[in-house]
This record gives sequence, structure tokens and C-alpha cells, in this order.
Amino acid sequence: MQKLVIISSSIRDGRKSHRVALYVLDFIRQNTIADVEMLDLREYAFPLFHERLKYQESPLPEVIEFAEKVRSADGVIIVTPEYNGGYPASLKNVIDLLTDDWSRKPVAFVPVSDGPFGGSQVVTSLQFTLWKIGALTVPGPLRIPDVINAFDDSGTPSDKPAMDKRTAALINQLLRFIESKKNMQD
Ligand SMILES: Cc1cc2nc3c(=O)[nH]c(=O)nc-3n(C[C@H](O)[C@H](O)[C@H](O)COP(=O)(O)O)c2cc1C
Repeated sequence: MQKLVIISSSIRDGRKSHRVALYVLDFIRQNTIADVEMLDLREYAFPLFHERLKYQESPLPEVIEFAEKVRSADGVIIVTPEYNGGYPASLKNVIDLLTDDWSRKPVAFVPVSDGPFGGSQVVTSLQFTLWKIGALTVPGPLRIPDVINAFDDSGTPSDKPAMDKRTAALINQLLRFIESKKNMQD
């Protein structure tokens, strides 16, 4: 079975995008699609890194643990809010931390907003950054508009059949990318 990790990027008090991360985690587990683990940046509460991990002299144990989880994952699902048209500093902090480790990593996006556009702008900058460091970014993000009404606090969607269908499509794409990567020459 493939190993996936979900990065939940918002570290805000009262964050809403984490609802979506909880839902995706549950969807993958309930349908036995893959081994999956949540990497919650709020829980990690990392400092702002001054340098990439490979150049840090004495990295924190939780930083090493986080890096190992991303490195060993077959694919990554990034759940991110849209902040002023971009992605949050908490997410940039860990992307830059692991710079080389993103190379050839299949990555799928779940952008979230409380407005009507479902974080459509955040994908532009996030996609570019990850493309630049060699990630295999899956097209067709699972955009979540109106998150406050679309999910309750525990991550239950208001329209579960529709959300399940869209989520399955994203994860199938990610699994296809993971399969395709196996045929790539290093
Ligand atoms: C600093 C900041 C900037 C934001 N900018 C945008 C934005 O550009 N577009 C948008 O649709 N929502 C924006 N929002 C609202 C988020 O979509 C909303 O907070 C949503 O719940 C996802 O973020 P969260 O997980 O941190 O709650 C912004 C929120 C914050 C805190």
C-alpha cells in the first residue's frame, strides 16, 4: 500500500482549512486507499528556519522527524489556506527547509478559502515553487470554497457524496503520478 502524508498548513487560532485536512485523512482511511498520516504544522509549531535542514548543525528532533515523514512518503497532499492570494508562511517555511527532498515527489493540492473562489489564486504560487524544486505536481486541485459552510468542525462535509467524488478524483490522480514515477529513470 502507498504511503501518503497530508500537510495541514494553517497554524491560525480558529483555522478552518484543518477541517478539510481531517476529512481527507478520514476519507483515505475509511476507504483503505493508502497508509496516511497527518503532518499538522500548528502542532509542530516550528520556529522560522534560518537555513535548510541539510545545513543546520543541530536540528530539533521534531524537525528531523517531520523531514523523515515527508521523505519516506510516496506522495504528499498539501491542504492550504489562501492568504492574500498566496500560501501561508508556515508552509513556505517547511518547503524551503526540505528543498532537495521535494524533487520528484508527487504532490496534490487542496486549496481552501472562506470565499467563493476556493483558493484558486494560491495554487499559482504554490505550484510554481514546487515545480521549481522538481516536485511532480498533480493538476486539477481539489478547491474548497466557502469552507465554513462546506465542513463542520470535525471535518464532516455538508454534501458528503459530492465531496467524496471530487476527493476520490484527486487521490486517483496522485496515485497515478506515484505509479508513473516508478518508471522514471534517475
Ligand atoms: C491573513 C489572511 C489573508 C487571507 N486572504 C485571503 C485571500 O486572499 N483569499 C481568500 O479567499 N481568503 C483569504 N483569507 C480567508 C481564508 O480563506 C480563511 O481564513 C479560510 O478559513 C482558510 O484559512 P484558515 O484555515 O486559516 O482558516 C485570508 C485569511 C487570512 C487570515
